[in-house]
Order: sequence, then C-alpha cells, then structure tokens
Amino acid sequence: MSLRWRGVIEAYRSYLPVSAKTPVVTLLEGNTPLIPSRTLSERIGAPAEVFLKYEGMNPTGSFKDRGMTVAISKAVEAKSVAVLCASTGNTSASASAYACRAGVRSIVLIPSGAIALGKLSQALIHGARVAAVEANFDACLALVKSLAQLYPITVVNSINPHRIEGQKTCAFEICEVLGRAPDFHATPVGNAGNITAQWKGYQEYLKEGKIRKLPILLGFQAKGAAPLVRGALVKNPHTIATAIRIGNPASWQGAIHARDESHGLIHAVTDREIIEAYRLLASKDGVFAEPASAASVAGILKLAKSGYFKAYYAKKRRRITIVCILTGHGLKDPERAIKSIRVPKSLPASLSVVAKAVGLR
Ligand code: F0G
Repeated sequence: MSLRWRGVIEAYRSYLPVSAKTPVVTLLEGNTPLIPSRTLSERIGAPAEVFLKYEGMNPTGSFKDRGMTVAISKAVEAKSVAVLCASTGNTSASASAYACRAGVRSIVLIPSGAIALGKLSQALIHGARVAAVEANFDACLALVKSLAQLYPITVVNSINPHRIEGQKTCAFEICEVLGRAPDFHATPVGNAGNITAQWKGYQEYLKEGKIRKLPILLGFQAKGAAPLVRGALVKNPHTIATAIRIGNPASWQGAIHARDESHGLIHAVTDREIIEAYRLLASKDGVFAEPASAASVAGILKLAKSGYFKAYYAKKRRRITIVCILTGHGLKDPERAIKSIRVPKSLPASLSVVAKAVGLR
C-alpha cells in the first residue's frame, strides 16, 4: 500500500462531481485522525467507545477544506476568476488558501469583530479581500447572495453544492477506519451544511454496500444560536462559539432530514457546557479543538447524563460506538483558551522562585 495521501478528490473521485478535465486544487486535505477518547468513553453511562474525528488537522485547521478542494477545483474548471463567501471565520480561511493556490481572487465578508483572530489572520495572509461588515453572519450571507447576482463570482459557501459533496468524505473516512458506521455521529451545527453533507456520505456508503447500517445523527447548536432546536429563526444569535453564531441556517432542510431520517436529534448546549467540554478535551485527552467543535462533546455528555445512551444500550446489549466531530483546531482561537484559564505571572529568573511557582518543593 502506498502511504502517499493525495487529498479527498483523488481518494474519493468516483463519489465526487469531477472528471478528467477538472483541475484538482488540493492541499492534501482529509485523512484526519479518529482518536479514541478514554475520558469520554468512561462518561457515557453505558459500555461505549467514543472517538474524536479531529478535523482541526486539515491543512487550514478545519473541515471546510474537504468542501473547498471540490468547490475551488470546480470554480477553476468553470473559468471563474474570483470566489466569494460570507464566514464566521473558517470558511474564509479555507477559501482564501485554496483560491490563492489556484490563482483566483477571493473575497470574504465577515461579521466585524466577531471572528476568532487566527481565522482572520489566515484570510489576510492568503491575500483575500476582506470586508468586515457591521452585521452578523446571516446578514453577510444575504449580501453575498446579492453580490453574486450582480457580479460574475462563484459563491463558495455551503449553498454551493460542491462544498457538500466534498464534506461528505468525512463520513467515508469514519466508516473506513471503523469498518462500519458508528452507532452515533455527533456534530456541531451552525449553517447546517456539514450535518447535511455527513448524512449524504453515510447514505451513499449504504447504497454502495460499503456499510450495512446508518448511524443516528446527533446535532448540537449553541443555546443562544439554536434556530433548528427552536424551530424558528434567531434574529440576534449569541454564543462564545463564534463559528456557530448563526440564526438562519442555509441548509435548514438538510439538517432536519438528517435528524429525522436517522432517528436522531438536534439539541442545544449552553456556552458553559461548551467551555467545560472544551477544557475537558484539552486537559484529559490532549486534543485542542475550538469552542464550536466542543459542542459535539458537550452534547453527548449532556445526553449521557440524561440516560440517553443507557437506554440505547438496554435495548441493544452491545458496546456503543460514538464519533464526535471536532470541526476546527483550538489554535484558531487562542484568546478563548487564555480567557478560560489562569495565565501565569512573569517571574524573576531565580531557581527557588521558579521551582516554588511550578509546584516543585
Ligand atoms: N464548527 C466550526 C469550527 C465551524 O467553523 C462551523 C461553521 C461549524 C462547526 C458548523 O458547520 O455551518 O456546516 O453547520 N463555520 C462556517 C464558517 C459557518 O463560515 O466558517 P455548518
């Protein structure tokens, strides 16, 4: 077996809308680790094995790269000279990286002052034209749709179906590593493209006979930005998990289908639960994910407390497999890490002072 990984388009070409004529723009995204979590497995309240699909290990630090390789490759094939997106940060980071690699211009609209610093730095360093708009993500996306009507630019938000196609490969990889689909697939939900894509991936693998059973999908939104849980738009969404601060998800229907067809659920988790899960992942498992990503972990811990998995186990009587998608890297938002922990004071370079300060006696 060749160990050379060639990115998601080459790995899953027959499942993707590409032909021999499509120029492949790739940063060798995908093939991210599926890390077992002993800490979480022990907290499920029933015999279970929890895995973390660490999508922060993609080239720009989030799952967006899976969709962006397809969206940008197709944009180049269509001779597009510029791409456009609205973003809470990660889409803009990914779009600008793939666009510069392809030699096309990228334009990104972000909610002013509301995206994590790491993500902004990525869009800027990759040369995107960044407009920091005094509005939330939903309003930025509405502007993007209007701009695309007026100018010949390709939108690379997940309303572009090529994004969904690329992102479904996350489900493929999980099935390949486990040899089947997990019992439960837990994921954060914002604009709802990813849950839609993941469900599509599992369904395609079932149709192809690669798996025999579909997983139950568990989607989690932040409580202050939970339109799918409430069943109504949220006009002024708020949460510390800025990546999923969205009140009017574009793939609303896709998320509802994924939830209902999989007999799953979409629930809300509070900012406090998100931060607890974020710190637990970092301090027990050694996995640094951004706050929005920790929503999937906060969600399964909340379900575990309510006896949800115990009830499932009582019916099935076999060990449960749960996969949590960690959508983005913790380094995207270092300010949040610093805020959620006590920062060390500076000390004089003295052996006794330093030893005492770090707890050595
Ligand atoms: N997690 C992270 C880290 C994200 O950046 C996003 C979305 C999501 C989860 C939710 O995924 O929107 O497909 O439901 N970020 C988008 C952006 C909106 O602009 O970067 P979704």
